[in-house]
This record gives sequence, structure tokens and C-alpha cells, in this order.
Amino acid sequence: MCGIVGYIGQNDSKEVLLNGLEKLEYRGYDSAGIALLNENGLNLFKVKGRIATLRDKVDENVHATMGIGHTRWATHGEPSVDNAHPHQSASGRFTLVHNGVIENYQDIKHDYLQGVEFKSETDTEIVVQLIDKLYQEEQNTLESFHKAIELLNGSYAIALIDNQDNETIYVAKNKSPLLVGLGNGFNVVASDAMATLKVTNQYLEIHDKEIVIVKRDSVLIQTLDGTVLEREPYTAQIDASDIEKGTYPHFMLKEMDEQPIAIRKIINEYQDENGELTLDEDIRAAMQECDRIYIIAAGTSYHAGLVGKNLIEKLAGVPVEVHVSSEFSYNTPLLSEKPLFIFISQSGETADSRAVLVKIKEMGYPALTITNVPGSTLSREADYTLHLYAGPEIAVASTKAYTAQIAVLAILAADTAQIKGVDLEFDLFQELGIVANAMDVLMDQKEELEQITRSYLATTRNAFFIGRSLDYYVSLEGSLKLKEISYIQAEGFAGGELKHGTIALIEKGTPVVALVTQEQVNYSIRGNVQEVVARGANALIISMKGLEQDDDAFVIPRVHELFTPLASVIPLQIIAYFAALHRGCDVDKPRNLAKSVTVE
Ligand code: F6R
Repeated sequence: MCGIVGYIGQNDSKEVLLNGLEKLEYRGYDSAGIALLNENGLNLFKVKGRIATLRDKVDENVHATMGIGHTRWATHGEPSVDNAHPHQSASGRFTLVHNGVIENYQDIKHDYLQGVEFKSETDTEIVVQLIDKLYQEEQNTLESFHKAIELLNGSYAIALIDNQDNETIYVAKNKSPLLVGLGNGFNVVASDAMATLKVTNQYLEIHDKEIVIVKRDSVLIQTLDGTVLEREPYTAQIDASDIEKGTYPHFMLKEMDEQPIAIRKIINEYQDENGELTLDEDIRAAMQECDRIYIIAAGTSYHAGLVGKNLIEKLAGVPVEVHVSSEFSYNTPLLSEKPLFIFISQSGETADSRAVLVKIKEMGYPALTITNVPGSTLSREADYTLHLYAGPEIAVASTKAYTAQIAVLAILAADTAQIKGVDLEFDLFQELGIVANAMDVLMDQKEELEQITRSYLATTRNAFFIGRSLDYYVSLEGSLKLKEISYIQAEGFAGGELKHGTIALIEKGTPVVALVTQEQVNYSIRGNVQEVVARGANALIISMKGLEQDDDAFVIPRVHELFTPLASVIPLQIIAYFAALHRGCDVDKPRNLAKSVTVE
């Protein structure tokens, strides 16, 4: 949540900052700002709204070779110009951008900043005011910065400029992502390498509780006690074109289209030259040694985890529990003797999941992260990582990461089964290949699905998704997709559960989307459809070839029964896309949301 960017170099910084913020907009987009420091002093531009609005506001005649910028997802204080970053200290000397949440901001305000007049309602402003206050005693910016950072509790990625020093950007990080990018005669700071790929692909990871002094031609990393650290840069493995829309009107559409490519890439990456499944031996050992798996994830990744549980239990015979990460710390289950924790996260930065990872590492348990971003916090801090190979996902609504997560979980399940000597009755790569082909077919049926969307969801306020067995898990994902981007109130239910209360909401014309891909529940889910139709529902049945009946609205190609979620989710994603488009919603950046949820 929130994106920060900074530049210090020889050239005008405006375009690097604005372009960087555009690339970071997926992290939050309710307000934005940049601060540019030049020989005339500090120039501050802030707006409520998107980066496009900020672009219009920035004075193109202001040139500066250093600056910092921010795009916000509000936590403390509503989206407004006053609450937008950068924030300035009362004296105007210090200017700062921040991503994260300062948990003890009230205490700091009370203990150090009595009498200071605040301009915003943010937790961030206390940091810049504190630095200014400490500077009055220290008369040294670095010392004041160190002291202020030591006083903070919570999560932060911070970039600070001192308007009396046009040689330095001061940076600090704890729990929120932050990288320093290296250039020739310039350096950059960013929440994500995507922001500054146009100018460099060389990056330094910054770890928690480190302070970085960024100058035009040097970068110094220190611990909080002042010890200087050496660190080798790495090359970011993302292609700048991966993060462009190209000819697509929306990232979501592009990313849905990329799903068969991602599945084929996963097939390639997880097989050796003999076509056999290949996984890191340490991961294999961890899967053999554990007596129970605890999957921890949020949102769409949680839904992928539910499918993963089914795959691992059915194929490998290892018991699996799936937990929503934000609840795990309070509702911690009784753990088995030899647990293995699997974190599923597209971004690898979800703060709720990270909190669980920190806790279970303290308890000494092993952790595997399944993520689209190797090098992300959850990947670095776990013992093992499995990569999704889906390519950057920019649209806030997750699509290709969900299907990639299920495919990688299938590989993990099948590999564990094989190592345990279980004879699989199918060829996994062949079945995943069939899934990829089915996805191609489904993506070519967009027009038909757009018509279905018009017929069933044009004016509705609400919608229900039902399914049994694996279809239930996909119903949860289908309803999340629809609600998050079209704002239609949508809920997913186990087919048998609706009549235990929710059926009271069914009125004449209420859309009920029913998934029918599992032979053993074909008749029972169709029975549930009859129950809602009898009460006036407008049933939209999506079935699989071989199980279809005459009145079904849409039939997906046949795939292996265990892998139906990979195919059945596609029409639900497309329906959500068109529902949002028809309602004039911002498909890629739905209201109130952000792509990477880095606050708990
Ligand atoms: C929904 C969506 C979210 C994420 C959730 C977890 O489309 O994208 O529900 O799945 O915020 O994010 P990651 O997977 O990055 O941990």
C-alpha cells in the first residue's frame, strides 16, 4: 500500500518521479505528490486523486536534480491534499514520504511533539516533525534521522530530504518494501523495481531496520547502530514491456489472456530435460518430513489455497489446513508436531501473511512461500520459495496469479505424491497442457460471455455464486472478482448452505451463478439451482462438457476433474470484467483497493 519513489542525479527528476509513480499506482491511488529540491528551494505538488491529476498540477518549468514522490492508499486520514505526501516539518526544512503504519504515532506526538501544529491527520507527519524536533538538539540531519527511526514502532519505508542539502536522500525501512536502484551518476529509491525499470535494472535490497544514505554516486547502507554494510546489487528480472498494457484497454484483460502462457511456462519450469517433475530437494524433504501443512494466505490467494488443500490431500495424502492470514495470530489452531507452513502470496508483501511468517519463524517452524515475486519479503524470509512464473500482475484484481498458484500447488502435490511412491493415475504435465488449451478456448469466447453478463448482471444490485466440492472454492473466487471490480454485492456459497439462511435474500430476478464441473455433485448442485429458481432466481449455470444440460448458459471444455478450477474460473473472471466495464467502473484500479496490502 502506498508507493514511494526518489531520484538524485544529474538530470531533471520530474519525469522519473512521475513515471515511477504511474508504475506504482497499483499500490494505492487516492492522492499523490512530489517534492523537488533545486537551487530555489523546495517545490511541493500534491493532489487528491490519480497521478494523471498530479502530472497536470506539476509546474513543468520547475527543474530539479533530486526529488521524492508518493502515491497513497489512505490509512490515517481521508484522501485529501493535506493528507497527501510528501509531508513537511513545521520549519519547512524537512520533507518526507512514507509507506506503512507508525503504530506509536500517538505516543510520539505526546512525548516529543507537544505544541507542534500539525497540518494533516496522518501518522506520517509525526515522523517528519520528530526529525525536525530532534534536529534542533542534534544540529545534524543523519543523527536526527537515526534517532527518529529508532523511536518508531510499526512498518515504514521512508525517504527524507533536507532542503539545506541537495546531495542526499535519507532512506529507512522496516516491514514495508523498499529498494535502491543504481545508475551511472544517479541513484533511485522505489517501493518496487517496476517503478524505475526505465532507468536501471540494478538494485540493492534494503533489509528491515536499515538506514541508507543515497547520493548521486554512492549508496551507503547502515544498521541502526551505525555499522556500515556491504551488499551486492542484483539484476531485476522483469522486462519493461511486461509492465505495459500494449494494445489492451486494461491490464486485467491482458493478464486474463496471459493465463495459458503462464501455465505453459510453469510446465516448462518445473520439468527436467527428461520431462520429469523437478523440485528443489530441500522442498521435497520438507514435504516428506511434515505431518501437517498450514496454508496461510489472504483474498484470492486464500481461495487458491483452498484448492491447493484439496490437491495436496487427495494426491499426496498430507493433511492440510488453510487459514486466512489476518486471523491466524488470534485464532491459532493447535499445531501438529511437525508442521510445515506454506505462504501463498502473489506480491510476497502482504503484511498479514508476513506477521504470521515472523511468528512461526520465532517458533522455529519451516516455511515455504509460493509467490510471483522472488526476492519479495515473504520469499526472503521463508526457508524455501516456489516461483509462479506468471509475470508481473498489475491489475488490482488477481487473475493469472490465482491460476498460476493452483498450477504450482498441483505440481507440489503431485511431486510429493511421487516421492512418497504414490502412483498418479494421470500425467500431470499433459493434464495441465489440456488446461492451458481450454483456457485459450475460453478466452476466445469473450463475446459470448459479454452477452451473458448483459443478460444476467446488467442492473442487478447483488448476485450469488454456488458450487459444491471444488466448485465451491471457485464460487468464492468468482464472487470476490465480481464484487471487487463491479461493486455488485456478490457472495459465494457452498451449494447446500444457501438454504440455511441466505436463500431469504433470493427475489425475483436475483442472479445465481452455479458451477457444475464435479460429476459426483452434479445432481445435488442442480437440485440447489431448482430451489433458488423456485423462489424467482435467475440461474446462470456454467457446466463442464460431459455434464452439461440443455438450459446451461455456458459450457467449459472438459479438463481433469481435479483441475477444473483452472478452467471454470476463467468465465467468472471475464464476467466480472464485463460487469465492471458496463457499469463504467475503473477495472484496473477499483475504489478503496490497492494491489499490495502492506499494512495489517
Ligand atoms: C483480489 C486480490 C486480493 C489478493 C490479496 C492477497 O483480486 O488480488 O484478494 O489476493 O490481497 O494478496 P497477495 O496474493 O499479494 O498476498
